[in-house]
Amino acid sequence: MNRREESWDGFWARTLRIDMFEGQWEAYHKVADSRAEWLEKTFHLDKDKPVLSLACGEGGIELALARRGFNVIGIDRSQVLVSFARDQAIEGNLNATFVHADLTGDTQLPGNNGSVLCFDTLGLLSNDDEYRLMQRMASSLHREGVLLVDNPQREGLVPTRRWQHFNDGYFLLETWLEKETGTHLLNPIWISPEGEEVLLRDPYDRKRESHTGVLRYVYTPSELVNLVKSTGLPAREAKHQRNGYFMVVGSREQEG
Ligand SMILES: C[S@@+](CC[C@H](N)C(=O)[O-])C[C@H]1O[C@@H](n2cnc3c(N)ncnc32)[C@H](O)[C@@H]1O
Repeated sequence: MNRREESWDGFWARTLRIDMFEGQWEAYHKVADSRAEWLEKTFHLDKDKPVLSLACGEGGIELALARRGFNVIGIDRSQVLVSFARDQAIEGNLNATFVHADLTGDTQLPGNNGSVLCFDTLGLLSNDDEYRLMQRMASSLHREGVLLVDNPQREGLVPTRRWQHFNDGYFLLETWLEKETGTHLLNPIWISPEGEEVLLRDPYDRKRESHTGVLRYVYTPSELVNLVKSTGLPAREAKHQRNGYFMVVGSREQEG
């Protein structure tokens, strides 16, 4: 069997974040709208100030917040996903801007945001990159703003092996948690209609040795709270609307 490797942006981003939802966009939008409503109400997001969302992917939650009247800026290093999100914003005439950038660089983030979000991404980059990113996130927050980050709960990460048929091919996904290190391993394989196997090879964390699949460190709630606190912002864990996830909230409102 022929085998080739593709990067996240070269092949996998479109396959997993766009093509996989074909025929399911209505349900996808319902979930995103419900998440946006929950975020706005639970964390009292301020509509008068911008929302900055980092590693926004195809912009599901960001576009849903824009549909609720927020002015949103999303940043992601996948050109494919940023273009997709931009097209959706134009089509829906929404107040949402999507920027293509690598967040491990030191590019300055737009400031004075009412909320700064980074969902389902921390743990993919190196410790140093995540520490520096967190400092920049906190600096881009308005004094009264709220910073929200989330992560999966380790307990929910049971080993999985599943497959799905779409685009005429088969998508296989194996995942497991390495308990000793807290690393979640994800091994996606695409099998094309011609029988070719496509693996993912992408340097999310440039300090790790090159490998196929995704290695993601899964923070415990107290570790993620401490990462947010390292910016000087008071932080606490909060219940997530998404099953198997927890939220960490950073805001000065909790002071005193
Ligand atoms: C698991 S997805 C999460 C997407 C979205 N936030 C969500 O909750 O569905 C991780 C995202 O991080 C983005 N990403 C990974 N490394 C990045 C980097 N260095 N700079 C910007 N975005 C990055 C990927 O392109 C991808 O869209």
